[in-house]
Amino acid sequence: MRDEASAWKGLLEMRRGGRALALPADAPAAVAALVALYLPYAQVPRGRSFAVAHLGQSLDGRIATTAGASRWVTGEADLLHTHRMRALADAIVVGAGTVRHDDPQLTVRRCAGNHPLRVVIDSERGLSSEHGVFRDGAAPTLVIAAADRLRPGDRLGDAEIIGLPRQSDGIAPAMIREALAARGCHFLFIEGGGITISRFLSAGALDRLQLTVAPIILGSGRPSLTLPEIAAPAQGMRPRLRQMPLGDDTLYECIFRD
Ligand SMILES: NC(=O)c1ccc[n+]([C@@H]2O[C@H](COP(=O)([O-])OP(=O)(O)OC[C@H]3O[C@@H](n4cnc5c(N)ncnc54)[C@H](OP(=O)(O)O)[C@@H]3O)[C@@H](O)[C@H]2O)c1
Repeated sequence: MRDEASAWKGLLEMRRGGRALALPADAPAAVAALVALYLPYAQVPRGRSFAVAHLGQSLDGRIATTAGASRWVTGEADLLHTHRMRALADAIVVGAGTVRHDDPQLTVRRCAGNHPLRVVIDSERGLSSEHGVFRDGAAPTLVIAAADRLRPGDRLGDAEIIGLPRQSDGIAPAMIREALAARGCHFLFIEGGGITISRFLSAGALDRLQLTVAPIILGSGRPSLTLPEIAAPAQGMRPRLRQMPLGDDTLYECIFRD
């Protein structure tokens, strides 16, 4: 295993329950870095509930312009990274805003791996079936809506819709995790946007959070994380961190639970 492609295949195999990856002591630095980054994810046992979120943001904490343009805040290496994370996951989760603005395909195209289930949280049923995820047939898609917005036999294009109870601040992330686990999706990759990930984070429903910071200042735009107000910096979260370069960007990985 001396090249990145075969190391990646080994990591995918491990994630699927195959044999543990053996990294040779003289592996090239790029291979060792790839294994170091993804090994904790390849090691997540099948069936264990695990949620990791990712945002690509500017130095000043923006994930898109005010109008919603986000292509691309971070560089090629972070794009490849998101495709690798998709390939490791059972399901990719995004909020309605991301589908509305980006019309993302949410498939694995830049690396080897299978497409996971695509999950869109559209609690108010504000999205139309025109978006690619609901029509392209590239991978199964599930919509999570508030139960009171569900009509019998409802679908959104090709996507199935399930209803979950609404609470005062939307659908509880823990309930979303449970509903997906009941469908065999235990490892969730929550890919945005800022509102969706902030809800998971403030509910304590993330095991890890990846923030890729690009060396750019947007000065305005949609925020990355927005959490309830605190009274002093000492009350901020100080998670355990891993930090690594991704091309010209830097990935900060916050570890909330092992
Ligand atoms: N740079 C990046 O990494 C990145 C990644 C993804 C997206 N983006 C950009 O970010 C922008 C979209 O992000 P955003 O923060 O504005 O929106 P978002 O997180 O994509 O979507 C938020 C919406 O999703 C629904 N939602 C999510 N979680 C929910 C919950 N627990 N309960 C109920 N509803 C829930 C709500 O919609 P309803 O109330 O209407 O149902 C909520 O308003 C776009 O411009 C996109 O281009 C950037």
